[in-house]
Amino acid sequence: MFLFRWGMKVYQQILKLYVLTFRIKKTVIVHEAGASKKIAEYLKKDGFTNILIITDRTILSLGLLKGMIEGLDQQKIAYHTYSDVVPNPTIENIEEAKKIYLDNKCQAIVAFGGGSVLDCAKITGVVVLSGKPVKRYDLMIPMIAKMAKLYTVPTTAGTGSEVTISAVITDTARSKKMPITDKKLAPDYAFLDAELMTGLPKGITAATGMDALTHAMEAYIGNWKFKVTDDYAIKATKIIFENLQKAYDDGNDIEARSQMALGAAYGGYAFRTAGVGYVHGIAHRLSELYHVPHGLANAIVLPHILRYFYSAIYKKLSDLSIKAGVGSQSRSEKENAMEFIEKIEALNKSLGIPVYTDKLEEKDIKLIAKRAIAEANSTYPVPYPITRKEMEKFLLTMLPNAPTAKGE
Ligand SMILES: [Fe+2]
Repeated sequence: MFLFRWGMKVYQQILKLYVLTFRIKKTVIVHEAGASKKIAEYLKKDGFTNILIITDRTILSLGLLKGMIEGLDQQKIAYHTYSDVVPNPTIENIEEAKKIYLDNKCQAIVAFGGGSVLDCAKITGVVVLSGKPVKRYDLMIPMIAKMAKLYTVPTTAGTGSEVTISAVITDTARSKKMPITDKKLAPDYAFLDAELMTGLPKGITAATGMDALTHAMEAYIGNWKFKVTDDYAIKATKIIFENLQKAYDDGNDIEARSQMALGAAYGGYAFRTAGVGYVHGIAHRLSELYHVPHGLANAIVLPHILRYFYSAIYKKLSDLSIKAGVGSQSRSEKENAMEFIEKIEALNKSLGIPVYTDKLEEKDIKLIAKRAIAEANSTYPVPYPITRKEMEKFLLTMLPNAPTAKGE
């Protein structure tokens, strides 16, 4: 076991050195109510006259594109729309969007939607330039040469995909998630428009908000902490604790919505170089096997993982809780850390998020452990690496009403 932990830590440090070589372009954030109406001005300034819009049918039917389209018409920018992106976007989605882009000789992409739309747009932006199949990028180091210019308009506050360098694509033939990470996947612009988010249902507001919190927290408790990512993680955690409940209680609270949009982007900035961890490694399995929405899966798994790794991370948890205004200087680190976890559990409860998912089946635990370990141990700066057997034991405690598990 010692050799395993030591070997994995060396491997993580080598990966960290690789991450340090990243020169990621800074995504330009346009943060104001009605920001999406201004995209045409930015496209015109950048010299584009013919674009592909990638979205989904719900966004289209809600009429959320209206303000942006009016701007495009005013600026005489031609547009073609692909609106068939499904939750957990597929390789087929990308191939279809790619065809529209190439058939119409588009010059840039606007991704207008939630994380699935944005992820689909990123990889579409890669394959329209490379001509290579999507599966070619299912590698730990995908070596992406370039991506089409990408303007993002997130319509949920959670994934952070509007600023991150990763995308998760589903290979339906293999029932497998393909997380693709490369510095070239950083979008050029993020238009944070709270006016688009007031109609979000409570369930989506809750799940996406907790996804953003998970990004900030996994970035902070992992082993690739940088000053800049810590700062973003603290800001995101503070914003989310102050605004998620408000946005959930009153969807029309434009200020809370606006702050959550910013918090999600900050969470994205935190994890785009500091990485995520076992919460995401497990949540991806709950999505690919049971179709549990990504944010909901993270929200459920997060407190369980925090409790499991408590002994290893309580100092970082306490530090984050104080800096984010959740904890107190007057209490011990262990008290602050435990209270922080309890506050997350209370927030989950208040947002209608269950403690367990009743979809998890014991017969799937070996497969989930295998895939979660393969993803997390090879890619993420987890607090400390655990084995597949340890993961299986942990997952047994995620079965409904099982006792809490504790790591070392
Ligand atoms: Fe996430």
